[in-house]
Amino acid sequence: MIDLINKWLFGGVQPKKKLPFSADQLTAEIKTNRKTLNLVDNWVDDDAFARSWFNYGVPDYIKKDINRAIGEDPTYTDILLYVSKKYFEKPAYLEIGVSVGKNFFQILEGNPAATLTGFDIEDINPVLSSRLILESTTDWDTPPDSIKKNPSTLKTFRFQNRKVQYMCADVWDYNSWSKLNGKKFNIVFSDALHTPEAILFEFEMLVKYNLLDEKFVIVWDDLVGKMKRSFYQIIKRYNKAFGLKEIYLFNVNGWIGEHETPHAIGIISNFSFSHEGRSH
Ligand SMILES: C[S@@+](CC[C@H](N)C(=O)[O-])C[C@H]1O[C@@H](n2cnc3c(N)ncnc32)[C@H](O)[C@@H]1O
Repeated sequence: MIDLINKWLFGGVQPKKKLPFSADQLTAEIKTNRKTLNLVDNWVDDDAFARSWFNYGVPDYIKKDINRAIGEDPTYTDILLYVSKKYFEKPAYLEIGVSVGKNFFQILEGNPAATLTGFDIEDINPVLSSRLILESTTDWDTPPDSIKKNPSTLKTFRFQNRKVQYMCADVWDYNSWSKLNGKKFNIVFSDALHTPEAILFEFEMLVKYNLLDEKFVIVWDDLVGKMKRSFYQIIKRYNKAFGLKEIYLFNVNGWIGEHETPHAIGIISNFSFSHEGRSH
């Protein structure tokens, strides 16, 4: 019913409910990602959690399962890795909401062609940064109304000759987005503040700072309730400008796999998923 209302309100957009690739086609990525997860015994660094603003977005019911094997069913990470490999020669990946780095690390390990940028209000999890080589840090003042009460930073790391950046800042801080000016991302995963206002704001920042590459795909996690409406709003506002070719809304396992109910995921892209060739 809500889908029908949204469809009526937002210009007849009818997202597809099934991706054009099956669990079988994701087998290689599922295998790679489970292997990557086995490299880390414990995602929780107690000191970092004690310093955090809100426990890296890991509530207790997730924390108790965060280190458990996630099962063999596809997750959003398997889909992201598959898309990054199938459609992009040089994936330039932005994750908004990195948390302890579970999804981020799987993309980092799983696609050697990818450069990655993470954006989170929490400091980079030491479990993740211990695998990277820090090259430089810039910082700036965090707006006083932010829940983050120390300076914001953009850290540049190396990982096996690849550049990895991590911006520790508040999504609501305009200034933080301006630090990404000049970059072009072709895969964006939005998984930070799960509010309808925040995902609209993020999208406006991606547009304002011209951060989307010519060919791009965007994935949102947890599109439930009013979040779904923001998803439709984004499509309605930007469909023409970006010439969207694919729109999906479906459920798939998330960061703790089979230990919680599947997440509602939204995807848009300005290229067709039936197109075989890779390009940046
Ligand atoms: C659900 S977790 C991300 C999970 C991660 N993408 C994964 O799949 O492994 C959400 C993250 O968003 C971050 N976050 C929440 N509010 C934020 C804000 N205002 N600015 C930046 N990051 C924020 C939290 O710190 C948390 O780490």
